[in-house]
Amino acid sequence: MSKQTRTTRKTVKDIAAAKGGTPLVMLTAYDAPTAALLDAHADILLVGDSVGMVVHGLPSTVGVTMEMMILHGQAVMRGAEQAFVVVDMPFGSYETNPDQAFLNAARIMKETGCQAVKIESGAYAAGQIAHLVERGIPVMGHVGLRPQAVNIDGGFRAKGRTEDERERVIAEARAADSAGAFCIVIEGVAEDLAAEITAEVSCPTIGIGASAACDGQVLVTQDMLGLFDWTPKFVRRYADLATEISKAAAAYAEDVRARRFPGSAEIYSLRKPAG
Ligand code: KIV
Repeated sequence: MSKQTRTTRKTVKDIAAAKGGTPLVMLTAYDAPTAALLDAHADILLVGDSVGMVVHGLPSTVGVTMEMMILHGQAVMRGAEQAFVVVDMPFGSYETNPDQAFLNAARIMKETGCQAVKIESGAYAAGQIAHLVERGIPVMGHVGLRPQAVNIDGGFRAKGRTEDERERVIAEARAADSAGAFCIVIEGVAEDLAAEITAEVSCPTIGIGASAACDGQVLVTQDMLGLFDWTPKFVRRYADLATEISKAAAAYAEDVRARRFPGSAEIYSLRKPAG
């Protein structure tokens, strides 16, 4: 049996079984070495379309393409060995109808080897989710603040702050759950709404800016590592990599300019002839 066949990766069953238990740990990953570092600590690695913003410098996730998601998905699958890997379906790849969603989701699954896809699931997406699940593709839903809807919302705004909006987010979550999503990301909502959804749906919920009332948490890894000078209110920085990277680059530049780098330990020298 090949190594791939014998994988000890977490499965969709492990994730679904975590409902109400020890909170699930999810982080985003976009490249192989970072995925390898995060792998031991995360239950789920999400190849999020946030890659467009935090790696490619786009103003939103709207410009992210299938090709970008596939390339980053392949890299993460090479780096991670045990985490369950989910790849985001980019804007425009699933909204038209269930057939479009299946063709693109199947392409992502085949070309990356990932275990599931994520769909930003307005209530309309229930048809897409059911269609994919019936055909063998596990789907993670994503409700509340949906970054791909930034142009309708006029910015990245918390959701569920009016009664109407609250009902809409609950309806989105119910729709994703009854369509067969194995897990639902809840983004940018108040604690009581996250708690209500988590209590109602049968699958685990994973919060981002949605309080500890969810069955798990996700953060964008670059935010959590402190790579940016601005992050949303809900991010906790566990490191200050921006400062570390600047300090390292400045020290390297000084050494190069002062001819201190490379030193004698960092150069090749002629091999002495044998004998
Ligand atoms: O794209 C992404 O990183 C996401 C998470 C923020 C949930 O969707």
